[in-house]
Amino acid sequence: MLGACWFNGGCEMSGRQSGTRLGVALAAAVLVGTALMADAQAPVHGGQGTTPATASKTAGEAFKNVRVLKNVPADQLLPTMQFVAASLGVECTFCHIQGAFDKDDRKEKQTARRMMQMMAAINKDNFDGDRDVTCYSCHRGSPAPLTIPVIAAEEPRPAPEGTAAAAPALPSPDQLLERWAQAVGAEALKKVTSRVQKGQLIGFGGRPAPIEVVAKAPDKRVSVMQTPRGESITAFDGSRGWLTGREGPHPMTAAESEAAKLDADLYFPLHVKQLFTGLSVRPSEKIGDRDAVLLIAANEGKPPVKLTFDAQTGLLLREQRYADTALGYNPTQIDYADYRDVDGVKVPFRWTLARANGRFTIQVGSTEQNVPVDDAKFVMPAPPSPAGQPTPK
Ligand code: HEC
Ligand code: HEC
Repeated sequence: MLGACWFNGGCEMSGRQSGTRLGVALAAAVLVGTALMADAQAPVHGGQGTTPATASKTAGEAFKNVRVLKNVPADQLLPTMQFVAASLGVECTFCHIQGAFDKDDRKEKQTARRMMQMMAAINKDNFDGDRDVTCYSCHRGSPAPLTIPVIAAEEPRPAPEGTAAAAPALPSPDQLLERWAQAVGAEALKKVTSRVQKGQLIGFGGRPAPIEVVAKAPDKRVSVMQTPRGESITAFDGSRGWLTGREGPHPMTAAESEAAKLDADLYFPLHVKQLFTGLSVRPSEKIGDRDAVLLIAANEGKPPVKLTFDAQTGLLLREQRYADTALGYNPTQIDYADYRDVDGVKVPFRWTLARANGRFTIQVGSTEQNVPVDDAKFVMPAPPSPAGQPTPK
């Protein structure tokens, strides 16, 4: 599983190709995934990393044999590949030969290239060019799309009588956010200047790893995970995000930084109205055994952020975010649980981050607030710049 491979800090892909410029870029991008996956509240753009060398290039310029996606920004190629793999429910090696991603030897890769053209044509000819049909629309997590309707294993249960009438009226976005602010403890939250959480990251079938998440008002955040290979860091310094990988610390891409900025906002429950121009409330399915309400927060031209609240407590249960790629959105879902009172503020002590290719949970053991935190903790150290590693401009 790709997730596991990120967690361990090195896919064969990065190992075998290292030394070449492409290899360095790929290794960096894969390792960006490592650090991102290390942090439950890190940006959703799993693996959507890049070295500065590829930041302004197109995929056609940065990679050897990209023909259909050649005008896509180079740093979107790997997220796009993750979208394709998730849509078909396959590993990279379904289409690629390990260590030679540019080769066209596998017929699945050639089919995939034709499918990309087909998808573009379907959308152009039928949906005004909107991306209404994607790989996932047909494939649904399988290489072989179905053509025949499935007969359900069980008789569908009739809905209990009166459920339609019993559906409660939805609150307005303002009411929902006001409720959240109260539930969190808005007045107490405004007095919080820093938060230090220590716990464990559990996931990928590995041993739990110690992790520390430090936040400082208004918008600095760093998480440091101890791995057998050393520290894995994801951070936002107040203006941009950065993370560590085998090649040393890297700045995040603009899109990653934007998501990291949201996560770093210590007063996020009080800022939603300022951060998004479009807010709407929808009914939600239950989450676990909790009745829930969904708030969709959007800005023009960007994928939305979905926030699902506990209908009883008013606290945030789930956040869903989407990273745009050339072919569709890659989803990230963060589920919050185990809320405890810290100095009058409700703080989640457990969160689980899930993507199409893996999930992990952070369980916090201790939370301290208003302790002094040195700003230096959030600043990206100078990269070691080994041979072949481009230094940031
Ligand atoms: C369903 C098939 C399929 C899967 C699965 C897939 N790819 Fe691809 N990949 C392609 C196709 C097709 C291209 C060429 C696209 C083009 O020509 O525009 C490509 C191109 C690439 C390239 C550019 C290689 C070069 O130098 O030209 C890289 C790197 C890559 N893929 C990585 C990955 C990774 C990493 C994964 C797993 C997350 C993955 N791919 C999963 C089909 C696939
Ligand atoms: C309109 C529906 C549809 C869309 C959209 C679609 N596919 Fe397919 N795809 C199919 C069907 C149907 C087949 C199986 C054809 C067959 O059985 O011979 C298939 C087969 C494939 C295969 C070969 C699988 C194998 O087992 O060899 C690959 C690879 C593939 N699609 C990739 C993609 C990718 C990547 C995308 C998005 C760019 C995509 N498809 C979008 C319908 C679709």
